[in-house]
Amino acid sequence: MLKKIDTRELKIGMVVEKMDRSWLEHPFLTNRKKITSYSQINKLLEYSIDEVYINIDLGLDVEPEEDIEEETEPEIEIFEPEPPPPPIPPPSPQTYRPASSPDPVVFEEELKVARIVQKEARFVVNDVMHDVRVGKNIEGEKVSKVVGEMVDSIFRNRDALASLTRIKGYDEYTFVHSVNVCALCVTLGRHLDFDPEQLRQLGIGAMLHDTGKMMVPIEILNKPGKLTDREFLEMKKHPIYSAEIMARTNGISEQAKTVAIQHHERYHGNGYPYGLKGDEIQLFSQLTSIIDVYDAITSNRCYSKAMPAYEGIKKLYEWGRTDFNLPFVESFIQCLGIFPVGTTVQLDSSEIGVVISINHEMILRPQVILLFKDEIRRYPTPVIVNLSERTADGGRFARTIMRPVNPAQWRINVEQILAKVG
Ligand SMILES: [Fe+2]
Repeated sequence: MLKKIDTRELKIGMVVEKMDRSWLEHPFLTNRKKITSYSQINKLLEYSIDEVYINIDLGLDVEPEEDIEEETEPEIEIFEPEPPPPPIPPPSPQTYRPASSPDPVVFEEELKVARIVQKEARFVVNDVMHDVRVGKNIEGEKVSKVVGEMVDSIFRNRDALASLTRIKGYDEYTFVHSVNVCALCVTLGRHLDFDPEQLRQLGIGAMLHDTGKMMVPIEILNKPGKLTDREFLEMKKHPIYSAEIMARTNGISEQAKTVAIQHHERYHGNGYPYGLKGDEIQLFSQLTSIIDVYDAITSNRCYSKAMPAYEGIKKLYEWGRTDFNLPFVESFIQCLGIFPVGTTVQLDSSEIGVVISINHEMILRPQVILLFKDEIRRYPTPVIVNLSERTADGGRFARTIMRPVNPAQWRINVEQILAKVG
């Protein structure tokens, strides 16, 4: 008998009998496929196959959630974390002023260097995660060095490194995510006018915030479906594990450790592991929690598809009232722009293009590379325009963004476009 289910409900041992897709549009050699690994489920999600038909005569059926919990789950282990570390005084309020000094290096130039730094950071994170998995101590000096290079990049140009964070991987989410969160935290930190040493501490905490996930069983970490209560309890230990790993590492400050341990705390007390609220949560942790969520929802993960950057921004603003310190969400949006780099937009001139750099003085008027003259005609050579430019008589703005659009509809490969801009 066939049963239609959400792809995220697939489990190892089920047999997929058919999909509402032609053979050419799915990743398997045959239409019938026995699920033997989570990576097969991830592949289906990668191909945007959200529903499948399983054959319950040939493989496992979907079990009601309550049954699984009642019959097969062992007794829930009560997780009692240690009391939180003493609060660390945040930098003084005058440091919250947005940085206004001009960048010494133009975006296009810094992009070339930022790419090298980003690649190096991914190697470092890869090594760190591997070391944690095999029970080795991590090399704090390597982390500190590469975070220092990221800070230097951001002081040369505030947007280059952040623009690269929108180039997402699928298979290595935790690694890419750690580098992205670090890059965006340091970018926001510079926007808020923190000094380079503060940025380095913030960046180290952000880069290592999820190292504890490497101590969570891989089948829980990569599970495409909803976690059971027991699995979620296990997952909720990862901030503590991260802080423990950092405590065993030379040269990691208390401030960086606190970022890791508090990155799932929420401003109104609904987070974990301690349920801290308001200013009990260190300033750097408040910033990291916002960026952690933003990067997660705008990335493909094993259990959900990425939302476009501008939708991620909208969501953050919504959650700013319940989960985060709203003024910091607003600072982040101001820093990233309403239409972050990589957003595909249609203008009032009907032209379609991709945002390539932010105008911090006029966040609705970024620089855009135009690819289409209208919904049908492509530009023979892309044209870069600055939306703060006015018409020849100096009156109104020559072009204005009307709406973000889906790049897939125009077969626009945003990552390729951004790569060419540099
Ligand atoms: Fe986390």
